[in-house]
Amino acid sequence: MLRIAIIGGSGYTGVELLRIFKLHPQVEVVAVSSRKYAGHSAGEVFPSLHGYSDLIFTPPDEGLLDRSIDFIFTAVPHGVAMSVVPKFLDAGLRVIDLSADFRLRDCKTYEAWYQAHAVPDLLNKAVYGLPEIYGRYIPSAQLVANPGCYPTSALLPLIPLLRSGIISSQGIIVDSKSGASGAGRNPSPATIYCEVNEAFKAYKIAEHRHLPEIEQELSVAADRPVAITFIPHLVPMSRGILSTIYTQPVDEISTSEVLGILKEFYETSPFVRILPEDTFPNVSYVRGSNFCDIGAKSDRHTGRLVLISAIDNLIKGASGQAVQNLNIMAGLDESLGLNTLSLYP
Ligand SMILES: NC(=O)c1ccc[n+]([C@@H]2O[C@H](COP(=O)([O-])OP(=O)(O)OC[C@H]3O[C@@H](n4cnc5c(N)ncnc54)[C@H](OP(=O)(O)O)[C@@H]3O)[C@@H](O)[C@H]2O)c1
Repeated sequence: MLRIAIIGGSGYTGVELLRIFKLHPQVEVVAVSSRKYAGHSAGEVFPSLHGYSDLIFTPPDEGLLDRSIDFIFTAVPHGVAMSVVPKFLDAGLRVIDLSADFRLRDCKTYEAWYQAHAVPDLLNKAVYGLPEIYGRYIPSAQLVANPGCYPTSALLPLIPLLRSGIISSQGIIVDSKSGASGAGRNPSPATIYCEVNEAFKAYKIAEHRHLPEIEQELSVAADRPVAITFIPHLVPMSRGILSTIYTQPVDEISTSEVLGILKEFYETSPFVRILPEDTFPNVSYVRGSNFCDIGAKSDRHTGRLVLISAIDNLIKGASGQAVQNLNIMAGLDESLGLNTLSLYP
């Protein structure tokens, strides 16, 4: 059994980790932290876990290192992660961090988009935890930087096509729609019911913090600097991301050829489903699952190639992907604990 601790277990990604671990045959959660709910049980804080978890939240620092833990999940805000991760690494633990603190390899870029970095040396030691792309580096990683939700939805369709050279690295537009859980459980005026219900808006246009993360990975795939237009939207649903991506093929290419390239690339990836021609992703087909569904359409009218992807932001966009990384790090089947279909309808 793997012994796991979760720092920041009382947020949306934390409760999702607790739910998934309940389905995981090789994991025992031995500690889960929260400052606000210290002393309360997980089932009390999250009635969805009632009867399934007698774990008691503890303050983040309390005796964690005495509990012979194998892996730590840090599901805390960026800035907080970089302040706690180094001590776990120094103690020889392996860490999967869900925040943005270790995703960007260039410290100047991190500092331009976020804040001063306390441990810049770790940026090049962290492995970017997109298993379908970096799977061979993950088994030996001590620190995995779990990707952002929007980046996961943009990178999985785009990377194979940039690598194969069939689309131009210029002029890519990623138009993404996310449910409100993407902002976490801490209430803010922008995500309360009256702001989100019956509403639909773009936000942080061309300045969302996931932009440099997407560009970093697309630049690796294209082997040249890639700049994209990224427009996130907030839609009135609890979870899910749908990304519509506009690209320019280098030469004319049919939908079936594009789907063929994607299918071959993801042949051995259990969580990427390339949909048949004229079938397109829908957040309700992935809700509650670790799948990323991808569809494509060659638009003969304009010559563009349109890609569509759907994920559950809390699962493939966060906690499910983190568990997938854990499985790979621990040498287990990467699907363990994650073999569930969507909650459709
Ligand atoms: N939500 C998503 O869809 C999503 C997707 C991908 C990645 N992420 C990333 O995953 C991380 C967690 O996201 P979330 O949505 O679960 O956030 P959340 O719902 O706001 O939960 C944050 C958690 O961190 C704890 N925390 C906050 N400040 C802390 C501090 N100073 N010291 C220790 N613990 C602290 C909170 O508990 P207490 O305040 O009680 O201590 C809570 O358990 C974030 O970095 C986020 O960007 C989120």
